[in-house]
Amino acid sequence: MKYFFLSYILTGIIIVSFAGFRGHKFEEPPFQIFNDMKAQDKVKAQQPSSFFENGEAMRKPVAGTVPMGYAVPKKPASEGFVAQDYEFTHGPGYYYTGKDGDFYGDGFPKEIKVDAALVKRGQDRYNIHCAVCHGTSGDGKGVFTKYSTVIPAALTSAGFDDPANALYRPDGKIYDTITNGFNQMGGYGANIAVQDRWAIVSYIRALQFAAKNPAP
Ligand code: HEC
Repeated sequence: MKYFFLSYILTGIIIVSFAGFRGHKFEEPPFQIFNDMKAQDKVKAQQPSSFFENGEAMRKPVAGTVPMGYAVPKKPASEGFVAQDYEFTHGPGYYYTGKDGDFYGDGFPKEIKVDAALVKRGQDRYNIHCAVCHGTSGDGKGVFTKYSTVIPAALTSAGFDDPANALYRPDGKIYDTITNGFNQMGGYGANIAVQDRWAIVSYIRALQFAAKNPAP
């Protein structure tokens, strides 16, 4: 019995010496038996690094770097810039957000010229970014549905294009869905430039029209 109590106390001491008292705050890094990747060799923001010759850890892009396929916008739309160059959301207003105040707007913003070239561009971008899920015709039966239980919306379904229907999605709402995603759909705002998002909206309208008016 004596030995039992002794080993009992000893076990207690060992546990407390390793684990500490409850609520006790350690200043030291946590004790790791296996490296759980809290400590790793990496570059932290604003920290120096001896790896590079000039000691700067944060590397600048090579001079003249622009996102692939895009020119850097000269001025933001807030300064009267009319969409010519490709740009990503960087401000409030209908053109960037698809919203008029708290509500989704309808129609195309004045910065966007609606013509055949816009719809063509939209077709191009839609087939790259959206068709895998929503299908080339917009019926929601893209190749993705073969591999997933998630069901993409049928963009040509009844009511989607009819302002009198409760299911109606205004242009600004579709634009916002592309930018920020919707429920199970992720956002594409980081991949698709503002002009291209509006171009895709125009192409979705064309798909909806085509679904209602099949070629004879
Ligand atoms: C990875 C698959 C996937 C891709 C790619 C995708 N979507 Fe979706 N999308 C979905 C799913 C899934 C839903 C249904 C979301 C829900 O209701 O949970 C959806 C819903 C929508 C809706 C309906 C939102 C609403 O108001 O009900 C629109 C509009 C839409 N997508 C447009 C697009 C456009 C435009 C693109 C291309 C830029 C695109 N989606 C790319 C999966 C995708």
